[in-house]
Amino acid sequence: MANIIDGKAVAAKVRQRVAEEVKQLAEKNITVGLAVVIVGDNQASRVYVNNKKKACAEVGITSYEYALPESTTEEELLTLVDKLNNDDSVNGILVQLPLPKQINENKIINAISPKKDVDAFHPENVGHIMIGDYHFLPCTPAGVMELIAETGTDVCGKSCVVIGRSNIVGKPMAMLLLHKNGTVTMTHSKTQNLKEICANADILVAAVGKAGFVTADMVKPGAVVIDVGMNRNAQGKLCGDVDFEGCKEKAGWITPVPGGVGPMTIAMLMQNTVTAAKK
Ligand code: GUN
Repeated sequence: MANIIDGKAVAAKVRQRVAEEVKQLAEKNITVGLAVVIVGDNQASRVYVNNKKKACAEVGITSYEYALPESTTEEELLTLVDKLNNDDSVNGILVQLPLPKQINENKIINAISPKKDVDAFHPENVGHIMIGDYHFLPCTPAGVMELIAETGTDVCGKSCVVIGRSNIVGKPMAMLLLHKNGTVTMTHSKTQNLKEICANADILVAAVGKAGFVTADMVKPGAVVIDVGMNRNAQGKLCGDVDFEGCKEKAGWITPVPGGVGPMTIAMLMQNTVTAAKK
C-alpha cells in the first residue's frame, strides 16, 4: 500500500516561503504583481485562473485579471501583451491556455517578455531549461520535482519514465529529471511496449490526458507514481491519468487527483512571480 504524497501540504509550505519573500520585498518598497489573462469562457480555465488569483492574494502578490471575450483577435491580445510587457507594476504575465482557434498560441507566447514569462513557455526560457541554466522553471514539472523530493527519493541513476511529450509538461519534465541525473525515457502515443517500459520505472510521471490510463500492471512495486492528469470521468468527477485505486496497492508513493500536482503548479507560479520581481 503506497504512501500518499500530499500536494496540498507541500504547496502550502512553498506558498509560506513565497509569502515571506514577498514580505521582505515589501520592506524594500518593492511590490509584486502578476497579470493573468483569460480569453473566452473555457470552464476549466476559469477554475485555474480563480485558483491562481486566490493564491496571489494569500501570498501578498497583486493580481491583475484581464478577462477577454471569446471573439478577441490575435492583434488585440498582442496589444495587451505589449502593454503588460511595458507596465512596471507587472512582474509576471500569464496567458491561460488554451486560446480560441483564431489566435496562434506560439505567436502570443513569443510576444511575452522572457523576463516576465512566469510559465517559462517562451523559446528563450525553454532554451535556458535545456542547457540547465535557468531562472524560471516551468511550473508543473518544477512542482513534480518538489513532490519527488518530498518522498526522499534520490533521482540520481533511477529509471524515470515520462508518459506524454507536451511542451508544457512532458518535454521539460524529462529535462528536469535529466538534470538530477535520472535515466529518462520519454514515451508517447506511438511508443511500443509501453506497459513493459513503465513497469521498469522507479519514477513514473503520467501526463497523458486520459482518465485511468496508467493501470497497476504498468507500475513497478515500490515506484514513485506522479499523476499530472486533470480529466473528468463519465460521471463528471475530476480524476487523473492514473487508476489510483489499483495503482496505490503497488506503488511506494503516489499522488492523488485532486490534491497532488495541481496545487504545486500554482505554488511554483507564485515562486516564479517573486523571482521575476527580484530580477
Ligand atoms: N493551461 C493549462 N496549464 C497551464 C499552465 O500551466 N499555464 C498556462 N498559461 N496555461 C495553462
